[in-house]
Amino acid sequence: MSKPFYITTPLYYVNDEPHIGHAYTTVLADVLARYHRLFGDDVHFLTGTDEHGQKVDASARKLGRTPQEHCDITTQAFIDVWTKLGIDYSDFIRTTQPRHKKVVTEILQQIYDQGDIYQKEYEGWYSVFEEQFFTEKDLVDGKDPIGHRPVELIKETNYFFKMSKYQDWLLKHYETNPDAIVPSFRRNEVLGFLREPLNDLCISRPKSRLSWGIEIPWDSDYVTYVWFDALLNYYSATVSPPEGMSVNWPAQYHLIGKDILTTHAVYWPTMLKAAGLEPPERILAHGWWMSKDATKMSKSTGNVIKPLDMADKYGTDPFRYYVMRDMVVGQDANFSEEHVVKRLNSDLANDLGNLLNRITKLLTQHFDGIIPEVVWDEEDPLIELSRATTHKVKQLIEDIQIHAAIEETLQFVRAINRDITEAAPWTTVKTDKEQAGRDLARAAESLRIAAILLNPIMPKMIPEVLTRLGLDGFHSRTWDDVDWSDILAGKKAVHGDPLFPRHRKPGDQEEKNKPKSEPKKKNKAEKAKPEADDSQISFEQFKQVDLRTAVVLEAEPIEDTDKLMKLKIDLGSEQRQLVAGIKQHYTVEEIIGKTIIVVANLQPAKIRGVKSQGMLLAVHDGDELRLLTPSAPVSPGKRVS
Ligand code: MSP
Repeated sequence: MSKPFYITTPLYYVNDEPHIGHAYTTVLADVLARYHRLFGDDVHFLTGTDEHGQKVDASARKLGRTPQEHCDITTQAFIDVWTKLGIDYSDFIRTTQPRHKKVVTEILQQIYDQGDIYQKEYEGWYSVFEEQFFTEKDLVDGKDPIGHRPVELIKETNYFFKMSKYQDWLLKHYETNPDAIVPSFRRNEVLGFLREPLNDLCISRPKSRLSWGIEIPWDSDYVTYVWFDALLNYYSATVSPPEGMSVNWPAQYHLIGKDILTTHAVYWPTMLKAAGLEPPERILAHGWWMSKDATKMSKSTGNVIKPLDMADKYGTDPFRYYVMRDMVVGQDANFSEEHVVKRLNSDLANDLGNLLNRITKLLTQHFDGIIPEVVWDEEDPLIELSRATTHKVKQLIEDIQIHAAIEETLQFVRAINRDITEAAPWTTVKTDKEQAGRDLARAAESLRIAAILLNPIMPKMIPEVLTRLGLDGFHSRTWDDVDWSDILAGKKAVHGDPLFPRHRKPGDQEEKNKPKSEPKKKNKAEKAKPEADDSQISFEQFKQVDLRTAVVLEAEPIEDTDKLMKLKIDLGSEQRQLVAGIKQHYTVEEIIGKTIIVVANLQPAKIRGVKSQGMLLAVHDGDELRLLTPSAPVSPGKRVS
């Protein structure tokens, strides 16, 4: 029987527009859900919106809407963003749905009947923003301890849940289940909190102050506190899931941000315990996306990245790739557009996209696109590496180390690229076509496996990668499909425009338009140096020449010239175009795949109207010209010294 994998995101407040924080948790849940579907688990993925409370009520009034109308409109904004970002949720719950309200009402009544809810007069500091009461000692400089916003002293009679009654049980639960909260430093935070006296929880609001909520079943003067209402969604969604689906409590994973840890790790399990239900198996608290100046991105600080702006600019799958690759789950990360471009150019354009292009181009050029049938050599390092990679990726995903699982897969992609470079099928095809075909088939099969491993991250683009390898998109549903196979034999590969184009650095355009700086005048110290022999240079001067290894990716003779060829080279961190006078000495096939040495910091120039960003090193011997190349394989971008 397949393992249950019920995963949830927080329910997002509808008075906020969807932003990077919401998008991150939801993409993370989607990625985990997709990997676990691939592992063959029985996945149920729940997300939704948190619609009651004072803030929603106030926003609706301001806009002249009823709260329900307001919620219907704002919830749609979340649904639209999730559709655009390729979020494949099983269920979308709204706290205003009757299926949810019914469960909240029943559980409240049950807990009240068993004597775990009582009424008392209470005075406390209330934050409208957090919709929470704080005690005097919770406050920091007279403000709420979470968002540092104003609080007001409110005295009113309310209903209280006997949370303190379940404190010892909860402490023991976390002590005996070390994995119940991850990362472990968050668990320690909660343990520390639970070792202090725990207050009871105020679970009602008088209607005279706030009416937009679920009515307390035994007292129509009150509505339910938003958190007591919203947290129950995770359970109420299991009571009435969408038609044709079934899901059992408890959840395997609640994904949350670190700011809502106490509500999830303290309030929620005690509520469940009182209701006679199991606690969730695991709570995972992730960090925050911060802006470059290390402040949290949020609506109130005005530095929000709207996920759709970035997704529109760079594509939704590349956006998913960036947020999964650049955040270590649990820790904070800085979001910057520059980082986005760097990451997409290096991993997607240079590594993955380049590999796909090389394979499909050579297959179509020399084999009519047909992937040769090959008898595999079980000792093949690519086969061994593919097995090691799939094994590690599964382990890392189970440990929620998404960034590391991606890196593991990309290391594999880089190894396939290196393998092709060394095998040089563009050369061997002329003397040993069978060998060239075998090397391309090995590379294609390796890429197929890497692509399936990346599908949960980029579920729209990876099917296209697989289609270009002659398959019917992402046909794979089981983990067996990531094993080395013969599935590509005889399939027809298709070459097309690059799927993962390079992006320009933000602000690059402006840089180019800047006037060139004046040549530097010698300063006094330099002038004072003894004049050197004109033919000699100092070591400092030599060090200024940035010599690097590069791999030739593409070559094309420049028409109407005798000598010139246009090359596209891989410099490790970027791709560039060079113009070189090698046309009479090398054919296109001979030069593609060669590792050459280039001067990487030469000012760009135009040669016969064609841009050249660097110069390659070669040596003339009589009529012959020979390129300088390393004597053994070297990765692109390495400094030559
Ligand atoms: N409605 C409550 C949750 C109720 S769950 C029963 C809520 N909603 S929220 O819309 O304010 O926030 C939802 C999530 O977004 C939280 O997990 C929060 O951590 C996350 N983020 C908000 N800003 C964030 C970043 N800048 N970075 C990462 N996530 C952050 O809280």
